[in-house]
Amino acid sequence: MKRVAIFPFLSIAALFLSACLLSCSSALKLGQTCAIDRNCDAGLHCETCLANGNIRPRCTRIQPVIPTTKVNGLPFNRYSWLTTHNSFALLGAKSATGAVILSPENQQDSVTSQLNNGVRGLMLDMYDYENDIWLCHSFGGNCYNYTAFQPAINVLKEIQAFLVANPSEIITIIIEDYVTSPRGLTKVFNAAGLMKFWFPVTRMPKNGGDWPTIDDMVRQNQRLVVFTSKSAKEASEGIAYEWNYLVENQYGDGGMKANSCPNRAESSPMSTRTKSLVLQNYFRSAPNLGEACKDNSAPLMNMMNTCYKAANNRWPNFIAVDFYKRSDGGGAPDAVDVANGHLACGCTNIANCKPNAAFGTCEVPDPEAVVTPKTSVASLERRPFQLQWFLGLISTIFLSLLLWL
Ligand SMILES: *[C@@H]1O[C@H](CO)[C@@H](O)[C@H](O)[C@H]1NC(C)=O
Repeated sequence: MKRVAIFPFLSIAALFLSACLLSCSSALKLGQTCAIDRNCDAGLHCETCLANGNIRPRCTRIQPVIPTTKVNGLPFNRYSWLTTHNSFALLGAKSATGAVILSPENQQDSVTSQLNNGVRGLMLDMYDYENDIWLCHSFGGNCYNYTAFQPAINVLKEIQAFLVANPSEIITIIIEDYVTSPRGLTKVFNAAGLMKFWFPVTRMPKNGGDWPTIDDMVRQNQRLVVFTSKSAKEASEGIAYEWNYLVENQYGDGGMKANSCPNRAESSPMSTRTKSLVLQNYFRSAPNLGEACKDNSAPLMNMMNTCYKAANNRWPNFIAVDFYKRSDGGGAPDAVDVANGHLACGCTNIANCKPNAAFGTCEVPDPEAVVTPKTSVASLERRPFQLQWFLGLISTIFLSLLLWL
């Protein structure tokens, strides 16, 4: 009789515990052990990084701090933005032509999801295809059904919807441009309803000066900055030729050699101060989902320091990676926060910027989160292992079964 009375009691306790596993633990911090994404705090997700020997799934960052929430009113070139390389090349995507995609894929989520996570730079490859403009990851300047992802207008409409819904956000699109049809880009941006957000070429500084301020861009609703890789389109269509305004390091494997930060062929040398913006690429020639968590961690931060020196002591305004959500802890969002700290307030991380204070005034003491990637990985390892929750549940169930039998 006694045992029967105890059983419901214990099963209720077990139920509570298992409910708690799902809900109470939904506030796990950076580096804590998790089972699924929603165990982790906002801005984090749950993953392992086997390439770095991290077998235990832990909460890692997928969102940078939106820098304007900390420091407002600065010129556009005084901020850094998380940028996705081949933003449209979604892992596992099927071509809108119905064909199976046989070209490399670089990201894990849609452009809308990327924007919601704080991505503000999008690298899009655009081609003429099927009497339209398509996002394609191709070769030889031609798009094929097995390299064609989808018509560009679909993704441009996602961008339009985000700009409408977020009236103080600014997005930069960097086009790898294979479009030769007359005014092809103008037409598709127009059709997507994006022309009303267009930041005009005439307002871009030509001689290394400051850009207009973020506030000004927002006030004038000029919140879409577009660059093309085709120089002629600046005069013909008013689309800024990328390398008139920014310097950019080598992309692919050539840009991942430690302690060197050469410019890509089309760009002026990294040190060229007459270009106000700096773009840092850090991704492999062949996208690698497994290795991306390692690449996007300490090596990315190290390369940012190397490129800082190469760029004449300038931090990157755009940090472009593959699989931006992958890391062993802070990842690309950490790199962006560090760049923003230096750019926007002269501190080692945007989290340390003191609101409405003079440049170089930082929160003291520095929050623990703000450390170099090496230390942060080490401190993550020291976090308490959360297995006790799981063991607690198992033992409660076991105990109640034992008592009942
Ligand atoms: C893709 O294009 C090839 C020829 O270029 C064609 O044979 C094939 O049927 C196409 N596949 C689809 C799914 O449209």
